[in-house]
Amino acid sequence: MLRIGPVQLDSPLFLAPIAGQTDLAMRILCREQGGVGIAFTDLMNSRAILKGAPRTLELASTNGLDQPCGMQLYGNSEDPLPEAAIWAIEHGARVIDINMGCPVDKVAKKHGGSLLLRDCANTMRLAERLVKTIDRHSAGRVPMTAKMRLGWDREHRVAPQLARDLESVGVALVTVHGRYTVQFFSGSADWHAIGEVVSAVRGIPVIGNGDVTEPQHVVELMRISGCNGVMIGRAALRTPWLFKQALTLLETGEASPEPSFNHKLRLVLRHLELIERHMGAERAVGEMRQRIAWYGKTFGHVKPLKEAIRTATNTQTMRDALLEWMRPEYEHCSRVERTGFNAELQGFSTFAEDSSRNG
Ligand SMILES: Cc1cc2nc3c(=O)[nH]c(=O)nc-3n(C[C@H](O)[C@H](O)[C@H](O)COP(=O)(O)O)c2cc1C
Repeated sequence: MLRIGPVQLDSPLFLAPIAGQTDLAMRILCREQGGVGIAFTDLMNSRAILKGAPRTLELASTNGLDQPCGMQLYGNSEDPLPEAAIWAIEHGARVIDINMGCPVDKVAKKHGGSLLLRDCANTMRLAERLVKTIDRHSAGRVPMTAKMRLGWDREHRVAPQLARDLESVGVALVTVHGRYTVQFFSGSADWHAIGEVVSAVRGIPVIGNGDVTEPQHVVELMRISGCNGVMIGRAALRTPWLFKQALTLLETGEASPEPSFNHKLRLVLRHLELIERHMGAERAVGEMRQRIAWYGKTFGHVKPLKEAIRTATNTQTMRDALLEWMRPEYEHCSRVERTGFNAELQGFSTFAEDSSRNG
């Protein structure tokens, strides 16, 4: 099984940091579904952490259900990243990840993220300093990792050499999103180019990332690139059970089946409960109004349910709506099977017709 320095993981599948989405509630939810080796906080600004900015402290919150917890920091060589890393160690980080891939102007123009791909010599000096600080402060218990893109643009594919250099100063693992900064999220992730990073490093694990939406993609990305594990981001927002399915596929050669309709409803109920517990009822209502659209994509014909969630003004009304849709006959039904049931119930004749009416 995969190790990040001294940290042993139960699965080679990582939940990606997605700013604004992979909060504590979401991380716990994904872990409870199974198959997640490690999950990371959203990227956190080193200065904001040290100032104690409430929003950043909320991002950093973790607990016993969120283990092992990776905390992601961003900044440049002028920023107090070493001090922020010490803070993170003292507040529950089991792994510290440095963001070297964020393409968003606010981050990449001045603070860090992908900016670190533009001046690799400077980035290496920063990384060396950070590894030493983290190692000293955690007595070797907390490893440092880096998450990068392939490079700023096609003419500057720095990831292979940078990963090799980072390894030489003690970085324990690198994750590579197979796009360039200038691409943002356009085009598709280049899984072959991730393979160049795998070939460049001497021994640390490389995690491949980008466009994995199905269990089979995990196998394909690992086969094409030779990477040691896979990080999944956007697809986890729709299908938090993907990790479990993919891990089963890796272990047995067959993916576990898509969860039943009722399982998915229970998952949404659990998510609601987790958001309410960790962020309060008001936030839970707002969050779930947004998230039900993503969950709903895997539910078949549930327009009335989505509508009920979108218009609910409190969590109890949301809960009632979800419970109302839970039916014994859906216990073992996947989306297609249930949609068939629903088609009968609603007088629709075919699945195609049903999905064309889908909200
Ligand atoms: C809205 C959004 C926010 C993101 N925030 C972060 C972040 O905070 N830190 C980070 O390293 N990557 C961030 N990413 C990139 C993802 O972690 C991941 O590398 C990317 O989405 C590709 O993987 P995917 O195709 O599985 O989503 C973000 C991506 C999106 C779409």
